[in-house]
Amino acid sequence: MSFAKQTVRDIDPNGKRVLVRCDFNVPLDGTRITDDRRIVEALPTIRYLAERGGIVILVSHLGRPKGPTPALSLAPVAARLSELLHRPVPLVADCVGPAAEEACRTAKPGDVLMLENVRFHPEEEANDPGFAKQLAGLADLYVNDAFGTAHRAHASTEGVAHLLPGVAGFLIEKEVEHLGLALDNPKHPFVAIMGGAKVKDKIALIDNLLPKVDRLIVGGGMAFTFLKAKGYEIGKSLLDETNIAYAGALIREYGDKIMLPTDLVVTRELTTDAPTRVVAASGIGADEIGADIGPDSARAFAQVIEKAGTALWNGPMGVFELAPFAAGTKAVAEALARCQGVTIVGGGDSAAAAEQFGVADKVSHVSTGGGASLEFLEGKTLPGIAALRDALTAAR
Ligand code: 3PG
Repeated sequence: MSFAKQTVRDIDPNGKRVLVRCDFNVPLDGTRITDDRRIVEALPTIRYLAERGGIVILVSHLGRPKGPTPALSLAPVAARLSELLHRPVPLVADCVGPAAEEACRTAKPGDVLMLENVRFHPEEEANDPGFAKQLAGLADLYVNDAFGTAHRAHASTEGVAHLLPGVAGFLIEKEVEHLGLALDNPKHPFVAIMGGAKVKDKIALIDNLLPKVDRLIVGGGMAFTFLKAKGYEIGKSLLDETNIAYAGALIREYGDKIMLPTDLVVTRELTTDAPTRVVAASGIGADEIGADIGPDSARAFAQVIEKAGTALWNGPMGVFELAPFAAGTKAVAEALARCQGVTIVGGGDSAAAAEQFGVADKVSHVSTGGGASLEFLEGKTLPGIAALRDALTAAR
């Protein structure tokens, strides 16, 4: 599919102040960034604009502060970005007001500067028109490259696009092309691998994907609601009580497409040193917790994934953060890396797992979105993208 919005290629940034919304909401351990992928993925747009004489004004949120919160300053991000760009990226103390106005006014073509956490102002999440106007007043052009935040209609992701000429950055374009290709024009067999805790969180995704896929592999916590619907004892495993009937209906209607685990790793305690055993999916004890798919399931899932024309992965197969329950998720990650088709990791926990198991560089695309990629794959319109200028030759 062709991207339906204008991009940075459609603007001339030379000598212009360009407000660039990025998603620099990175995981932090104190002031240490534990995963800088969102920063690295923003580099092409930043470099493109700076090399063409734009004054690049970066704006982002970090965390969910309620007012100014020093622990959620973007200072570590500005420092990491300076390293990656091999040039200083000054952090401006506020994203609006005199400090921001002065910094943006005096910056020179080719400069890159970062505004402090936009969520230090509650008006950001309220999509306050006055606040959006203050942000827009700092620049001549607007670029949204914050795919991970595109599902939020906030002032810096949506409001400002109505006040400045707004186009997409390369990351948003790349995300939409990869995720959109899987949805609209997948190579078959199209295999979706779904995991994660609750069926409830994945209903819209399942409903959107099931008619399109050839196989839906279900693992992780959500699999137990399906096993319960089949009448199995699931012990103390995760159960989404309100969706047992939904899971049962899916099994009846799409039983030939849905693959459930046939064996499981169970334990009485979710700790690294608690005893574990492998049981058939129908053999969970009343006091046991299913914590990973078993080796037979991992092999069967991997065989299907390896042969996929398109494989889309959203959600881990077990509690992969704990070594005794990581094998199923690792097997899926490695099968994805071996697959010769288009392989897409739909963000969030799966992206973290892909990193952990060293396959992030061996798949076609790892989304930087968590909630945003989920909503995109559910078929929803993302307001941060919808508000941008339509492509002149938009195909849809
Ligand atoms: C994310 O990490 O999913 C995005 O940065 C959005 O953050 P939010 O859920 O706090 O809006």
